Amino acid sequence: MKLSGQFLKMKKNDEKIVMLTAYDYPSAKLAELANVDMILVGDSLGMVVLGYESTIRVTVDDMIHHTKAVKRGAPNTFVVTDMPFMSYHLSLDETLKTAARMIQEGRADALKLEGAGQVADKIAALTKAGVPVIAHLGLTPQSVGVLGGYKVQGKSANDAEQLLDEAKQCEAAGAIAVVLECVPYQVAEVITENLSIPTIGIGAGKAVDGQVLVYHDVVTYGVDRVAKFVKTYANANELISGALSQYVSEVKEKQFPTLEHSFTMKEEEVAALYG
Ligand code: KIV
Ligand code: NA
Repeated sequence: MKLSGQFLKMKKNDEKIVMLTAYDYPSAKLAELANVDMILVGDSLGMVVLGYESTIRVTVDDMIHHTKAVKRGAPNTFVVTDMPFMSYHLSLDETLKTAARMIQEGRADALKLEGAGQVADKIAALTKAGVPVIAHLGLTPQSVGVLGGYKVQGKSANDAEQLLDEAKQCEAAGAIAVVLECVPYQVAEVITENLSIPTIGIGAGKAVDGQVLVYHDVVTYGVDRVAKFVKTYANANELISGALSQYVSEVKEKQFPTLEHSFTMKEEEVAALYG
């Protein structure tokens, strides 16, 4: 398993870091098999797996439950878990207790928090307590109500400077990496050049140190449409729908099961059975 120090080295060596979300045993197993560098148990869980309209209904217990499954599927991959909505905004004390549960019960290797500013003190406290933290800036979906929608962030030079400043705050607080979501590629490039910790982009262009995408988007599974920044590499919806329709129709039409899928017994037992 790669440890957080190796991600720093990858940045120095200009070796791209690949992160992918996963939420359960089978997705984690396939992510590990594909050799991703890190798995993110994102609170996108709420939208792509649990069917909520946003990430804000996701609870700490949800994140722990799914992180456990992911660790069982990918025991040799660095697993980062999102601290969900409002679980790191109350006291430092509460934040540390919650983080301890996510690490000890969920077995996450690192935690991800959205925002800088008020959150920087939480990043610092967690880091001091021995918890590797990844920051998340730009479009931060837990604040969608404040941001006014799922929109590109840092589009003006002023906003971009503020983002850079926030990224530096996260680095200073001890974050091991920063996720940049939905920012112009020029902004991501400047931030990447000005940080010594890796930047991991989603909708942030290619001049970042790594990329992250949502599993269900990559394989088009359960999602109907994907954002501009997503590239899909397969269509699991079509594959699975086709299989399920065929199963239904074969049962209805008495084509399944055949003898091939059935058990049998010895001739004399059959004779005795039918009398
Ligand atoms: O929850 C998530 O999947 C994320 C990524 C989009 C970075 O936070
Ligand atoms: Na998230």
